[in-house]
Amino acid sequence: MTKIPEETIEEIRSKTDIVDLVGEYVQLTKRGRNWFGLCPFHGENTPSFSVSEEKQIFHCFGCGAGGNAITFIMDIENSPFTEAISKLAGRAGIELDVSFSETSSSGRSNEHQHMIEAHTLAANFYSHLLLNTVEGEKALQYLEQRGFSREHIEKYGIGWSLDDREVLTQLLERKKFDMKEMELAGLCIMKNDGTGYFDRFRGRIMFPLHDDNGNVVAFSGRTLSNSKEEAKYLNSPETPIFEKSRLLYNFHNARLNVRKTGKVILFEGFMDTIAAERAGIMNSVAVMGTSLSDTHLTKMKRIANQLIICCDGDKAGWDAAKRFAVLSKQKGMDAKIALLPGKMDPDEYITTFGGESFAEKVIGNPHSYMSFIMAYYKRSKNLSHENDVLQYIHEVMEELAQKISPVERDLMIRQLTAETGVSPNALNEQLMKKVGKHAKQQKVMQPEGGQAIPMAVSTRKVSGIERAERLLLCHLLNDGNLFDRIRDDHEELFFREEYAAIFIRLAGFYEKHGMPDFHRFAESLEDRELRKVVMDAAMLERDPDFAEQEIEDCIHHLKRQRINRRIEEMMHESKEAEKMNDHTRALELAREIIQLRKSLSAM
Ligand code: UTP
Ligand code: MN
Repeated sequence: MTKIPEETIEEIRSKTDIVDLVGEYVQLTKRGRNWFGLCPFHGENTPSFSVSEEKQIFHCFGCGAGGNAITFIMDIENSPFTEAISKLAGRAGIELDVSFSETSSSGRSNEHQHMIEAHTLAANFYSHLLLNTVEGEKALQYLEQRGFSREHIEKYGIGWSLDDREVLTQLLERKKFDMKEMELAGLCIMKNDGTGYFDRFRGRIMFPLHDDNGNVVAFSGRTLSNSKEEAKYLNSPETPIFEKSRLLYNFHNARLNVRKTGKVILFEGFMDTIAAERAGIMNSVAVMGTSLSDTHLTKMKRIANQLIICCDGDKAGWDAAKRFAVLSKQKGMDAKIALLPGKMDPDEYITTFGGESFAEKVIGNPHSYMSFIMAYYKRSKNLSHENDVLQYIHEVMEELAQKISPVERDLMIRQLTAETGVSPNALNEQLMKKVGKHAKQQKVMQPEGGQAIPMAVSTRKVSGIERAERLLLCHLLNDGNLFDRIRDDHEELFFREEYAAIFIRLAGFYEKHGMPDFHRFAESLEDRELRKVVMDAAMLERDPDFAEQEIEDCIHHLKRQRINRRIEEMMHESKEAEKMNDHTRALELAREIIQLRKSLSAM
């Protein structure tokens, strides 16, 4: 990959205001000289997240997150440096060297750029046709009938594609887009005889699909006709800018509200997401199609603590809800499932019973995983038939026995008893058999004995080490000469793994750059935890006048601790040796311990 020139990075930095940038993700209010808000990196109710306009950094007192504009994007978007840079460059209107952007991992190549431009153009064109032309009237009426307000139509960028084979194609040609690229982007299709292209979407209500940055990257078009011959929705194919398994409908709009509430609502159809806004629900997204991918889950998990799954009330909807619930559970997300009466979908429910009822009774009253699974298996059964009862108990236990807490197990047994009349004793016995069977299987796979060795050092000492390590790192980040002086003598200075890893990387950084620059150094780290440690240390107050003394104290403290630790290890070893009747070894160790103790008191 081509290297991004330092000047470009500087330019991006100087043109990006961190308050504006963070403000796009977090609601900030000004108090005194700083801006405050709820930390986007951990759930909290009182704002401990602050942004300094003056220093152009952010910091959270709650979770220790901190950094500058560039590392903020790396953290929050979970993206590598180059991607963060190209995002900020785009935002600041700075052009990146083509050779860089084409090879960058973000893939923001020219081709991508053209495809996004074409989609934006198409979306504007479709919207114009819907809102301002006679041809769009029928579609507009249809939308109004379905409860869409003008405001929502505009917010979601909804449009209409003419029932004409080539209007969009001609527009794109006039604007000098490369038509091969437009075909690849899914907007146009090559004619059979190869003489040209025609529009993919014709005579449909057009719903633009946006990526996480709010760029239009694809469309879904709904037909106006009720004919079963035609697909109700026609979606863009998978293209270089549109992957179904990555895109969540409305994610860019919902993100801030999801962070604020800690909850994300997941629908099967994007119509439901738009309808949910009528119920005042602003934190919902939808999958495009019916499969929920691991990428989808990762995206949601990063910004939400709780997922509320809300699928249609028909058989397909229940099955989808179960798939979604199982996957979220596997992903370690707290998932709840909101159920709809009859065969309704969320959109129909809101139209029939109103938004308030939907927000309160459906979304506001979701089932737990356990209660949903029980409802799921009960749905297809008639519990006055003995066979169905047996089957029901079997299915519920198979699904749940391993996954729930003892308290939930108790609840489950009680509910099964209430529903089927089978005694708690009998149910418990069957449950124990299931649990036992699984436990045995697990034992075979996971032999015992892998217990963690308790830490030899008490926590108070560790916190002393922590303080010394942090302060020393702070000095090392700010003073290249100091780093040179101590690096060879003290390779094993730091205890904690992150610090040791940072020490090594810092050596590399100084070799390359020669000068201290903790911002650039933090940006060069791929691992978010390491960046956090660096920024946290860099923000310590450090008095350059007393630097020498402080540094010496830290090194001294850390060295003593290392010897202490060595002594404790040896004492442990010597006890082991005595147990084995290896008295020679024990004696040897005892001597060494005495030596170490002497060296300690001489320090
Ligand atoms: P639904 O059939 O439940 O759509 O499909 P809906 O949201 O209720 O739509 P309306 O109310 O009839 O207008 C749910 C999702 O499945 C995908 C779409 O993503 C849709 O949002 N789908 C459905 C298709 O891709 N193609 C289809 O033909 C139908
Ligand atoms: Mn519907």
